[in-house]
Amino acid sequence: DRTITILGLESSCDDTAAAIVRVGPDGPVILSSVVHGQTDLHAAYGGVVPEIAARAHAEKLDICVKQALTQAEIDLNTVDAIAVTAGPGLIGGVLSGVMCAKGIAAGTGKPLIGVNHLAGHALTPRLTDQVAFPYLMLLVSGGHCQFLLVRGTDDFTRLGGTIDDAPGEAFDKTARLLGLAQPGGPSVERDAQTGDAKRFAFPRPLLDRPGCDMSFSGLKTALLRTRDQVIAEKGGLTRQDRADMSAGFQAAVCDVLAEKTRRAIAEYLAETPAVPVLAVAGGVAANQAIRARLETVCAENGVAFTAPPLRLCTDNAAMIAYAGAERFLAGETDDMTLAARPRWPL
Ligand code: KG4
Ligand code: ZN
Repeated sequence: DRTITILGLESSCDDTAAAIVRVGPDGPVILSSVVHGQTDLHAAYGGVVPEIAARAHAEKLDICVKQALTQAEIDLNTVDAIAVTAGPGLIGGVLSGVMCAKGIAAGTGKPLIGVNHLAGHALTPRLTDQVAFPYLMLLVSGGHCQFLLVRGTDDFTRLGGTIDDAPGEAFDKTARLLGLAQPGGPSVERDAQTGDAKRFAFPRPLLDRPGCDMSFSGLKTALLRTRDQVIAEKGGLTRQDRADMSAGFQAAVCDVLAEKTRRAIAEYLAETPAVPVLAVAGGVAANQAIRARLETVCAENGVAFTAPPLRLCTDNAAMIAYAGAERFLAGETDDMTLAARPRWPL
């Protein structure tokens, strides 16, 4: 029944983040969560540039840590352990985080805990809603797309996932093809609201195949072809063309996610969980149309639906601190040999 305070660091993609999470008998509390995004730095390149990301992480990490401590109104002495994303991700960024965490651990003599970034996302429903194991997680972001059966702090079973692009990547590419602003998800969602989803027929890949695997790269190719066809016919794209393509694309993503979620729920319910829960995480979970469809699928199957607040759906360090707290409470810590791992499946 002790209370522990964990400093978490995250730098695996294009967000530099630090957070303080306290876990006590009444559950977890986020004392602070600081995120410095890098969108501006990468905007001109149309994607995250690993070298620029790594440099920015190295420059921003200690500032984030200082801000996280100040906002939590504690100093490093109060911290019980330092948790850090040790992968998967862009190696330069992960290395920056691991080096920074090792420095703090060495300087303070506090334990070091390496956290899998995906475990951070997957355990977030426990941070926000104290959801009990086992629950079903759909992680949908710009880099990831998978169904996970979460049975314990370190017990994840992948039921299926994308075999090519992540949905967020597809939203971003769609926005680029249609000349909409980045990140693409919010722009495409906004345009889709005034669009006719039925005007263009987009594929629903892999729906005819059993299992929970998904594919989104064909959708992107179909969109490119449709766009070029419209441009060839009319000499350009009107605002309505863009809206209709956005709506058609989003409807296809919704259909694929809904059907595969139905199948994942069937596998999950075979475990007979006392309180069945589907949790979503990742930036794409911000999409209202996708959320609504997933909620419907859950309601039809007697499964509760939960989505963390958006700032905890996207990359942050509170989820890393919390996942670190679960490992720490399980008696697991790392030492100075902790390695940064670009690939690290759950
Ligand atoms: O989780 P996240 O912040 O970063 C990682 O990919 O790890 O997710 C970012 C992704 C981007 O691809 C972005 O376009 C997408 O999430 N996204 C959305 C929406 N908001 C963000 N996709 C669809 N609809 C949205 N409203
Ligand atoms: Zn992430």
